[in-house]
This record gives sequence, C-alpha cells and structure tokens, in this order.
Amino acid sequence: MNHLDPIRHVRGESQYLDDVPVQHGTLYAAVVESPVAHGKLLTVDATAALELPGVVHVLTARDIPGENQIGGIVPDEPLLAEGHVHFRGQPVALVLAETEHAAHAALAHVRVEIAPLPIITDPRVAAAQGELLVPPRTFRIGDSEEAWAGCAHVFEGVAESGGQEHLYIETQGAYAFPTEMGGVRIISSTQGPTAVQRHTAHVLGLGMHQVEVDVTRLGGGFGGKEDQATPWGALAALGAFVARRPVKLVLDRMADMRMTGKRHPYSSDFKIGLSADLKIVAYEVTFYQNGGAAADLSPAVMERTLFHSTNTYFIPNVTATAYSCRTHLPPNTAFRGFGGPQGMFVIESAIASAAERLGVPATEIQRRNLLREGDLFPYRQPAEGCHAEQAWDTAAELFDLPARRREVDEFNRTHRWQKKGLAVMPICFGISFTKTAMNQARALVHIYTDGSVGVSTGAVEMGQGVNTKIAQVAARTLGISVDRIKVESTNTTRVANTSPSAASATADLNGKATELACLALRERLLQLASTELSMDYEGLHIENEQVLAAGKPANTSWEKLVSAAYWQRVSLSENAHHATPDLHFDATTNQGYPFAYHVYGTALTTVQVDCRRGTYEVQAVQIAHDFGQSLNPAVDRGQIEGGAVQGIGWMTLEELVYNEEGRLLSNSLNAYKIPDLYAAPKVLDVHFLDTPGHSRAVMRSKAVGEPPLMYGIGAYFALRDAVRAFNPDSTISFSAPMTPEKVLVNLHPEFTPTPSDAWNSPAHSTSATTSAAS
Ligand code: MTE
Ligand code: HPA
Ligand code: MOS
Repeated sequence: MNHLDPIRHVRGESQYLDDVPVQHGTLYAAVVESPVAHGKLLTVDATAALELPGVVHVLTARDIPGENQIGGIVPDEPLLAEGHVHFRGQPVALVLAETEHAAHAALAHVRVEIAPLPIITDPRVAAAQGELLVPPRTFRIGDSEEAWAGCAHVFEGVAESGGQEHLYIETQGAYAFPTEMGGVRIISSTQGPTAVQRHTAHVLGLGMHQVEVDVTRLGGGFGGKEDQATPWGALAALGAFVARRPVKLVLDRMADMRMTGKRHPYSSDFKIGLSADLKIVAYEVTFYQNGGAAADLSPAVMERTLFHSTNTYFIPNVTATAYSCRTHLPPNTAFRGFGGPQGMFVIESAIASAAERLGVPATEIQRRNLLREGDLFPYRQPAEGCHAEQAWDTAAELFDLPARRREVDEFNRTHRWQKKGLAVMPICFGISFTKTAMNQARALVHIYTDGSVGVSTGAVEMGQGVNTKIAQVAARTLGISVDRIKVESTNTTRVANTSPSAASATADLNGKATELACLALRERLLQLASTELSMDYEGLHIENEQVLAAGKPANTSWEKLVSAAYWQRVSLSENAHHATPDLHFDATTNQGYPFAYHVYGTALTTVQVDCRRGTYEVQAVQIAHDFGQSLNPAVDRGQIEGGAVQGIGWMTLEELVYNEEGRLLSNSLNAYKIPDLYAAPKVLDVHFLDTPGHSRAVMRSKAVGEPPLMYGIGAYFALRDAVRAFNPDSTISFSAPMTPEKVLVNLHPEFTPTPSDAWNSPAHSTSATTSAAS
C-alpha cells in the first residue's frame, strides 16, 4: 500500500495553510524584526507606519493582554521583545494591514531604537562567561577517571558539527479568526497544536478552551515546527484578538531563515581509551551546545545528545557532560534526531581518531564494540531486542564490505587525482519522548451509519505518512477497507492535550490509541452480532467487511452490522487513551528506562573525491535497517531515503554562517545549499532486516522517522577516508560539514587560497600527469 497523500499533492489538491480560502475582512500581518543581535530596546515608534495607506494596527509587547511569554521548557522567551532584544530577527512588533503588500511596506517605517550590547555567537565563549540556558548535566557509568590507567591507548580531540536549516517547503505561518465570546480559532502549520493553543491562551489571558487550533497538514516540519510554530500562531491570534478580524501571517522564505532557530551547532571535547585488543574501555565527552538566545527545546535536545553519546557501542566507563550555552542567535530547536546526531558524530570522531592514529581500520574498532543483548547504556537501560550486530553483519555481508574496501583501495592505488572513501555507520536510536509524561496519546473514532469511519488523533501529517499508517491501523483492526477511513485534521477540540508530532513516536502513540479505540468498537459490534445471530462471541471476526463465525461467512456485512448497531442504540463512537507502559527516568540521577525500545541499523557509504577541485560524489549508501514488522514498506523506505539524504546534507553541503554580529549570511537558497538529486547518492539500497519488531511499537512496526538521518554521518567519514587516501599526513580536523571548500583545503594543506599562490605551488605544478580516471 502506498502513502495516501502524494497523488493529491501532485494534483495540487492537498490543502496547506496557504490554500485555506481567505475570509472577507482578513488582515495581513508582518513582523518587525530586531536589526541587532543584542541590545537595550529604547523605543518602538510606529507613528510613520500608521500613516501609510492600509495599515490598521502596529502591535507591541504593550498590547499583549496576558503574559508576554512563550518559553516551552524555561519561561525565558517573550512573544514580542520587551526591554531587551536577544537575537537578530527577534519579533519586536506586528504590523496589521489590509493587504500583504501594505503590511510588508510598513515594516521599514516602524522606527526601532536599540542601544547595542556585546554579542556572543560561540558556545564555548558563552560557557566561559557562565551564560548557560540550564545547569549542565552529566551521564555517568563506571568510572572513566579510574579506567584511563588500564587503557593501552588513550586519544583526545575536538569535534564540531554545524547547524542545519530545516527548509520545510512550507514556511511558518498561521491564520487566526476571532470567535464568539472573545475566543480565537487558529489554523496553524504546527507539529504541536496543543503548544500553540496553550501559549496563545497564556498570551491572550484566555482559558485554553477559548483557543481552538486546527492543522490539516504540513509541508514538512522536521522538528522546526515542534515549538517554533508557536510564535506565529500566537502573533496571528493576538492580531485577531485585538482587531476582531481574521489575521493571516505567513513568513517568506528569507524571513523564515533569519528568524527561526535551527539544528544546534555543537563543539565538543572527547577522550577515548582502548585496550590492546581495541575494546573501548573508557570515554569522556563534553558537549558545548549552541542554544541561541532562549531555551526553547535546547535542554531536551541536550539530554538526547547525552542519551546517544555512545551511539551503538557498549562502553563500560563513560562520563558525558553537556552545556547548553546561551548565545545571541535565534533559539535553536528540534531537528530530526533531536541532538542524537550531534552526540553520535563525536563518538564516531573519537573512534576514527583512534583508528587513524593506531593505523587500523575504524571498522575494526566499531565492529568489536557493538552493543549486545543486555548491555547497559550509560543511563542504565539494558539493550533488549538488540540488533546492532545483526544489522552490521547483514550490511557487511549483503553489500560485501571486504570487497568494497578492496575496490576502494585498489582504485586509490591506481588513481592519483581521484580518490574514493568508505565508511560504515551503525546507528542506535531510542524511541520515546525522553520526558516520560509526553508518551501518551488519544484517538477519537466515529463510525458513521453508512459504515464509513472518521479518525481523529493528535498526530500531525507532515509528509511522514502518519495518516496513512493510522488509516491502516483502523482498517486492519476493524476488518474493513482503508477506503472507508478518513483521517481528520488534527484539532484541539477533538483530541486534547496532545504531545507534538515528534520523537519519531507519532505513529506508535497515536496508532496505538487508534487501535485501542477500534478494538473497543469492534468488540461492541461483535457483541451485538453475537446476540443478533445467536452465535458465540469468541468465534466471531470481521474480515474483508464481512462477519465471520468460526471462520465462515455469517451472512452479515460490515454495513449491516453498523446499521443494526445504530438502530439498537449502540454507540458507534469511541475515545481511547494510550500511554507507553514501563517508562521511567530520574533526571537527577540520569538513570532509568526512558525508551520504549531502540531502533538499529547500519549503512555503508562510498564516496569519490575529485582531488583537484575538492568536489565529490556520494556514490552509494547501502543500508540494513531494523523496521520490525513494517506496516507500510513504501512509506518506511521513503523515510529511510529522505532521512539519509537529509543527514548527508547536514554533513556535507549545508553550511550555516553567522558573522560576529549574529547576522545570518547564508540567508537564502543562493548561499545555503541542500542536497538536490545530484548530491543524493547514486545508489541508495535499503534492506529490511528480519527483526520481530516490538510490542511497544504500533503493530510491531518500529518508529522510522528520525533514525535514518544518522546514516548521513557516514558521508563525513567516507570523505575523510578519501582525503586521507590522497594526503595521508592530513591533519584534517573533525569538523562538519565537509564542504567541497573544506575538502580542497584539506587535500592541499600547503595551499594558500589566493589564485597566484595556487598556481605557483610546486606540489601543484600544471605538469602533473593526469590519471586515467580524470
Ligand atoms: N518526513 C517528512 N516527509 N517530513 C517531515 O517533516 N519529520 C521528521 C520525520 N520524517 C518529517 C519526516 C521528524 S523530525 C520526525 S520526529 C518524524 O518524522 C515525526 O513523525 P513520526 O513520529 O510519525 O515518525
Ligand atoms: N524528542 C523529540 N522531541 C521532543 C523530545 C524528544 O525526546 N522531548 C521533547 N520534545
Ligand atoms: Mo522531530 S526533531 O522529533 O520533530
């Protein structure tokens, strides 16, 4: 079965926020941004703007009727700046006008006066000055301090990974309508409808019951709309509340890139100790997370970095510490992997560092230290149903790792100006919100009298196919065709108190709630059938829309049964609640059982580098992945492919650049490159490992959204492998992204990047003979 939505996407029938027909009387909103990254806000003067034609209101913090506060974890983020500004692009005022053009034209006429203050953009500088968003955390197992003495080899180093722009195709936005009795209804492009509802209610001084949030679908979220859809929803609602007219606010691409937070850049110190037989005995790591100007989700992201700091390896002695650092950048936020990728990049760097200095293949160290059944993670949860070795060994056999290695080495022996590189990237990702309470969901299922079914849950469809999976769960549980199921918009009045669609757990949580609701309905209908047909309830089933008694057709169709239920006054609606069992975690000891289960997999990545130009191609990514019993192999394969390519983008092309003034220089698609079809791997194989899945996964189909992003880390190490094949003495730092520019400089360390020097360098005289490959 395919993803249900794409046919409507390509026909242009799917309704995104911007497709909602505009209501008569709508005002358009535009946001006045702070032009500096840090300063004292002296005046906001809208006199000139208000004189322009079509401008109706200019709202500032003073117009907020409730509390000017939208911080999700820490209350440290105003909706509109008040007193100070803390990042460039911070919302300072909201212009409301009769047309979109008038609203944007007015922005330049709002006079904002700011007395500048010192700016920090580097997380290590922030940490040195005590600028932390929350206190640091340390995860510890064994005693790494004691363990160093017993290690045959100890290596230290630094690893840095950059940020990442979400680049959802649909930019942030919301459309708010005043409702009766002083409330608001918001159509929002959010992963977290309840977050928009809660913060809007708080800002407007309303009860949550007076704020309704509705989400049809998102043109991508990738974590960028888990928390950061809230300001736009709340601002549009503020406008509607004050003006008593509908207000539409949609960011254009460059405003979205400037104003919203991204994946957190990290700078980290590592120390790794190995025994003579290459067992990792001890690991110490300190993470400096660039949190930006407010906490947003940074504390939770930082925590997941710690959870995944040992990736898929068993290490008996670990001390992992993380600092969430306050800088004057837009608050960084959730992004596919949620800090996990940043943690995993560092342990892979530590292993590569050890391998390079010992002159052994990194794969030797990786394979020897993979998690086994029952091994403890540093947070004390045991690896249960562990497929780390199965994933590695299957990938190594199926894609013939030894042959790949030989081919790469042989190619590199025979080619001077082209080099290939190879890396293996095993992954292990914990499934559940690490905040235990968030692992709950509800479903509201209505069977209509014609036998069709409407399902509402807290799940937001953002391209990942969760609606398709929920429809499948309902159809399978009720024994009817998926064509009868409609998955409704996500609406806070139908399903309340939802967790955001995030943590890869959306299908598990909402799918299980749907399953429970459908099971209850099925039981109710079969009880009725048992009475009507005078048959034993135990022997009754619904299959292919027919009631079966002891496996034989009972001459009662789904439609007849539903109709009979209505006339017998049996309820055809059900509301079910699911909470993941067994989870607990103590955030003071940093120990517990935070994850429902883990997802495993291994990717082989092969690259080829043009050593004159520094350009490269990802030739193949070959993956063995643990899906469990996939509900929808087409959707799941799509998630692996998309995730892997997005991870490759983070590790290779995507370079976010802020200057010391905190200004985003890579502020458009001219300057910020995401992978296109040419940058995607030429070969992308996905093998479905034979694994049983898990009872805590929906129908044993394991969560799939985030784990594949981390396969992309293999591209960084494969490129590093190729660079070192050309230049074995390279002192290349562990610093991602590995852009073509960085590759070039590392291939030719003596290279001074001015044109005349390049041509005069003896090592690069133009007389060098060209190889067959070039
Ligand atoms: N896939 C698409 N097409 N679009 C998205 O925005 N978000 C990712 C992932 N896959 C995303 C996606 C992220 S960050 C998460 S957490 C999961 O989907 C969320 O959905 P799930 O919980 O249903 O996997
Ligand atoms: N993952 C993703 N999103 C989240 C989490 C998490 O663990 N916790 C809070 N939001
Ligand atoms: Mo995904 S980063 O948990 O939205």
